[in-house]
Amino acid sequence: MYFDTHAHYDDRTFDEDRDSLLAALPESGVTLVIDPGCDVKSSRAAIELAARYEHVYAAVGIHPEELGDFTEENICEIARLAGDRKCAAIGEIGLDYYWDDTHKAEQKELFKRQIELAIELDKPIIVHDREAHGDSLEIISQYPELRGVFHCFSGSAEMAKELLRRGWYLGFDGPVTYKNARKALEVLELCPMDRLLLETDSPYLSPVPMRGKRNDSRNLKYIAEKIAEVKDCAAGDVARAAYENGRRLFGI
Ligand code: NI
Repeated sequence: MYFDTHAHYDDRTFDEDRDSLLAALPESGVTLVIDPGCDVKSSRAAIELAARYEHVYAAVGIHPEELGDFTEENICEIARLAGDRKCAAIGEIGLDYYWDDTHKAEQKELFKRQIELAIELDKPIIVHDREAHGDSLEIISQYPELRGVFHCFSGSAEMAKELLRRGWYLGFDGPVTYKNARKALEVLELCPMDRLLLETDSPYLSPVPMRGKRNDSRNLKYIAEKIAEVKDCAAGDVARAAYENGRRLFGI
């Protein structure tokens, strides 16, 4: 059984077949999914999908690329949505200096506001950290009671060790199957089995051999197979561990 802890089924690329795809996931072995929001609109859509499908949970939040959505009114709306019984986390939130390194202060402010919301509501967070490793680590370190996952972890082995020491989980996605995955594989080697999560980030980041096509949760098996190679175990063992880890972190 697979738990895809990060898939954007509210994305418009699923408009044609969203319902049939989601309804069929349990039959293909994917029995739990978290759909993280990126702004108010997609957070609402994620909550709606979670209400419709028993195996789908939502996360709500404003992604750093959606900085324009950062208003007091929207933070209040995210807080309201977070009270839904199918809201498993605040996310995806974080810092993205690849996309924009000219509004770092605003990105940090938005990140911290949502971290504080997560602490208030006692929910884990789903962190998006792209080329902002130092600042991301520095910010989460200010909140020792905070827990969550670094989604599609792309930091160094040293950063991974520090996060693991602090009780964080690491998310692994399609890029572990890519040829240039040296750093991610190094991190995988040191990540204990009880701290890894399997994520697709659908519709993005399709793993080999599906690269270039729209991604969906059925492709988790390719990520699990790659991890199993590194960990010298069976893909089923990876899937089972990640499934339990996801349930533990997100309280499902
Ligand atoms: Ni994502």
